Amino acid sequence: MQHFLGTDDLTKPQIQALLDDARALKAAPQNDRLRGKRCALLFFNPSLRTRTSFQIGIADLGGTSVVLDAAGTWPIEVTPGAIMDGEAEEHVAEAARVLSTYVDLIAIRAFPKFQDWSVEREDAMLHGFVKHATVPVINMETIVHPCQELAMLLALQERHGSLEGKKLCLTWTYHPKPLNTAVANSALLAATKMGMDVTLLCPSSDYILDDKFMEAGRRFAEAEGQGLRVTHDIAEAYSGADAVYAKSWGRLDQIGLPMEQRLTPDEFRRFRVDEEKMALTNSATFSHCLPMRRNVKVTDAVADSEQSLIIQEAENRLHVQKAVLSALIGS
Ligand code: CP
Repeated sequence: MQHFLGTDDLTKPQIQALLDDARALKAAPQNDRLRGKRCALLFFNPSLRTRTSFQIGIADLGGTSVVLDAAGTWPIEVTPGAIMDGEAEEHVAEAARVLSTYVDLIAIRAFPKFQDWSVEREDAMLHGFVKHATVPVINMETIVHPCQELAMLLALQERHGSLEGKKLCLTWTYHPKPLNTAVANSALLAATKMGMDVTLLCPSSDYILDDKFMEAGRRFAEAEGQGLRVTHDIAEAYSGADAVYAKSWGRLDQIGLPMEQRLTPDEFRRFRVDEEKMALTNSATFSHCLPMRRNVKVTDAVADSEQSLIIQEAENRLHVQKAVLSALIGS
């Protein structure tokens, strides 16, 4: 593994090896695998979990990290050949090469700007760093969130054992504003690759994820002899599910419109995860990537239930990321 940009280009055994190492690191958190190694954590967007778990994880392995908080302060140009007479003071061609002289690994969080999905789906900042850096690159969330999906898989395996054939209800849930599709994309890819039978529940066909992720999910599901189906019927999606994973995301076809035209219709509050819906499942576990608006996305009763894996999944970010760091630059 040269970089960690997503799980779609990893094999199922490679993903399982990362999860197995994460389990070992959870049992024995500290070692010297990153002794003498330096990591730059570049954030164009805010974070609680990602920033904390990466910094602590690198320290646990004997390495050093520097956080570069570029949120709104240090725009970087990514277009090759750009005439840089706008906001950006720096091109990724220099930023990536300079950082590569200081550190052994660069990790990046760069959400889409929600201006033009046809452009943003190319993930230009991440791939700009990959093109110009001479050290490994980790995706800390762009249009996918592969660290989160590993944490989800580990939490699910800890509770369910093998995930093969287990039914996952991946549900859109209410949020007043449109959010990134990254976690939903990643949950879909991870679950199908690891052999889960996945139902994507969303309010209408307008909310279906980008074709490239849907097609990859279908391919992975088929390879595992499982299914990936889309439904807008709440009862159908929850019925018999072994796991419920919730996330809100915005319509791709509305990206670029003014925010007042993109607000989520109030009628979709009915997608909130609650006890009645969970009662339709096969005593399913519940999880969400966090942060999560209580009693808007999910009721307190579900979030605080025995079946809730939200804290376990968040903790697992620490362990899976240490496994990824070890695989990329560990001794
Ligand atoms: N789930 C997640 O990535 O959390 P943060 O945005 O707080 O890093």
